[in-house]
Amino acid sequence: MILITGATGNIGGRLAKRLLDDGEQIRVVSRKTEKLAELVGLGAEPMVGDLLDPDFVGGALDGCEKAFLVVQGNVRNGQHYEEELQVGENFANSLKSAGISHLIFSGSMGADKSTGSPIIEAKGEIEKMLKETGVPATVLRPGNFFENMFNFLETISSGFFTYPLDGGVKVPYVSVDDIARIAYKALKRGPKGWEVYDLAGAEDYSMRDIAVALSDKLNRMIKYVRIADDQFVEVFTGFGISEKFCEDMLAMFRFFERAEFDYDREIVAGEFDYQPMTMKQFLPKLVKMIK
Ligand SMILES: NC(=O)c1ccc[n+]([C@@H]2O[C@H](COP(=O)([O-])OP(=O)(O)OC[C@H]3O[C@@H](n4cnc5c(N)ncnc54)[C@H](OP(=O)(O)O)[C@@H]3O)[C@@H](O)[C@H]2O)c1
Repeated sequence: MILITGATGNIGGRLAKRLLDDGEQIRVVSRKTEKLAELVGLGAEPMVGDLLDPDFVGGALDGCEKAFLVVQGNVRNGQHYEEELQVGENFANSLKSAGISHLIFSGSMGADKSTGSPIIEAKGEIEKMLKETGVPATVLRPGNFFENMFNFLETISSGFFTYPLDGGVKVPYVSVDDIARIAYKALKRGPKGWEVYDLAGAEDYSMRDIAVALSDKLNRMIKYVRIADDQFVEVFTGFGISEKFCEDMLAMFRFFERAEFDYDREIVAGEFDYQPMTMKQFLPKLVKMIK
């Protein structure tokens, strides 16, 4: 039995389907029964509860040999960092007694660096807690998700997209399909002690690179517009995102601006026989959804 957290989310959902297709027995976690209906229909065992609850985590891991962990703190209540650490701690405290022989943790690019952003630093703290358990684990550190671009469908239709980030800064991009694929391959391959992989995708792209490629694909001008930090906070808090999460996102953008990304893409490609998705391959998915 394999425990899949985040099973109603981007990575866990894709991983769950791959494993079910393969006839694996999986247990899928969500806080809401109805969100698990599709996976249960495909044969997964539902596990409804909150990963912030240590007893729930212990029960969810009980009887599993392997587990996939992804954490997502609440972006609305200002406690996202504390929540992610709590979930990490709950896992670290239960992995050994549950007899887990292989854990996959999907964290974040930069988890080993001093980024100044609690969004990334939470993943580094969780890595440390998990490592201390001595349980064999494969840690994936994905770069920016291409799928973040789906947040801009509406403005792209009007000819632009925005972030409070320098348009020329190049950042590694990866697709959530690829993260799920590597997690799947790692589970199939089995444990190799403690191992960490940077998932930097095929290339680094800047916001301007994305705007140029989109303009080319759509045959009309799409502009990237850098917005001021306070404008970003105003818009995002208007959507109910906490000010704290906005601040931590801004700190992450500042990290992107000073980081010099220099990942060895061959390591993960060699280990998992992996050809990462390029922006050119991703764009048709985005364009299909733009009006
Ligand atoms: N976006 C990026 O560019 C990027 C880049 C690198 C790393 N990351 C990291 O990737 C992670 C997000 O992965 P994702 O996109 O696959 O997730 P997602 O689509 O945002 O889904 C979040 C999942 O977490 C579950 N969840 C949240 N809080 C929970 C709780 N207290 N108890 C039980 N389940 C809970 C949700 O389940 P229910 O709501 O159904 O309960 C849902 O399945 C985050 O750690 C993020 O920092 C993101």
